[in-house]
Amino acid sequence: MTSRRRLLAGGAAAGLGVAAGAAVVAATGRDDTPVTVAAAATVDTGTATVDFHGPRQAGVAEDPPAHAAFVAFTLAGGVDRRALARMMRLLTDDARRLTAGAPALGDTDATLAVLPARLTVTFGFGPGLYRAAGQKSPVTDLPTFTIDRLERRWSGGDLLLQICADDPLTVAHTQRMLIKDARPFGAVRWVQQGFRRSPGVQAPEHTQRNVMGQLDGTANPRGPEIDPAVWNADGSTQLVVRRVRAEIEKWDILAVSDKENAVGRRLESGAPLSGTQEHDEPDFAQLDDSGLPAMPDFSHVTRARVTDPTLKILRRPYNYDGAPNAAGQPDAGLIFAAYQRDIARQFVPIQQRLAEKDLLNEWITPIGSAVFAVPPGCADDGWIGEQVLA
Ligand code: HEM
Repeated sequence: MTSRRRLLAGGAAAGLGVAAGAAVVAATGRDDTPVTVAAAATVDTGTATVDFHGPRQAGVAEDPPAHAAFVAFTLAGGVDRRALARMMRLLTDDARRLTAGAPALGDTDATLAVLPARLTVTFGFGPGLYRAAGQKSPVTDLPTFTIDRLERRWSGGDLLLQICADDPLTVAHTQRMLIKDARPFGAVRWVQQGFRRSPGVQAPEHTQRNVMGQLDGTANPRGPEIDPAVWNADGSTQLVVRRVRAEIEKWDILAVSDKENAVGRRLESGAPLSGTQEHDEPDFAQLDDSGLPAMPDFSHVTRARVTDPTLKILRRPYNYDGAPNAAGQPDAGLIFAAYQRDIARQFVPIQQRLAEKDLLNEWITPIGSAVFAVPPGCADDGWIGEQVLA
């Protein structure tokens, strides 16, 4: 502690991370009396955990960690309700241990389990899982939208694991353990890996930029706005995963003003074109100098806007950036994940409006699509899906 105090008193305090709960001791300047500045402590990224248990699954309402893998499975023929219950008991047990920083049962690399880095594992059930269980599915496949260029390799799925953590090795290990235990019940259909900013790069309250350089998430429900949009009374929610390719090379040659008109917000500040600050409410009635709406009626924000708090969606997108093709053209875009109480009432009308008219469609293409019901969370002695499969 003495050496740390010297270090801090020597002016090296800024940027020094310490474990959560530990106090930073600094000299007062007058004498060497230590003062405690606990508020300045940063959380230890590696050991931070998110509680797996509760009436709602984790991995939805928390700030998204930096890395994610979305893993979808196709169930094997003959897997029935009893087999599904066995599978979910097993996978819940793995998730419960790994999210707490403990190895899974039979973990072949227990050393990789000790740094959970805010690991969450969220389970989603596709329409096919309900069919296999002989139950009515709360979600149905999306209608076809005119803008869709869907590829089977990114679409559909009976079971989804959304694995998120602030460390990619933790995600990789968790993915490996869960796939190993799910394998007897089905085959991996697709995996989509995505990323956001790393912890510590920006203050968490900053809206993040996506691979197209836009501030993405400004108008998302936050705090108390999340409940009415996202959670059903039983603790369930619903998830849409769309893989949306960004036509980066076409986007790159646009003037900044064209990029701003497509979205309806300033590129640098994220302010609506009718305002000056990121969180100014867009004014759709305001006219610009030429008498046209300041917020173009074809802009992404104008078309996507929802005012009823129970009809909003919680967007939780991750960027992807694959290997460029032989011509060096990027393969980048968004794994657009969005949570809501009811996909048919919330996501579908928004996507319909965007498909009909959204200037941003010139530079984005949906190439994957899947829907999942996200069952309630579970207690310490319970398992995910028990309400459906027990
Ligand atoms: C690559 C695909 C997409 C990109 C790059 C993108 C980008 C953006 C940006 C930059 C904003 C403004 C800032 C914000 O509030 O976050 C925004 C807002 C929004 N987007 Fe998207 N978006 C994409 C796809 C979608 C899809 C597929 C949907 C739903 C079908 C959607 C729904 C919304 C909604 C609801 C808003 C908030 C509108 C408001 O009330 O202000 N977006 N998007």
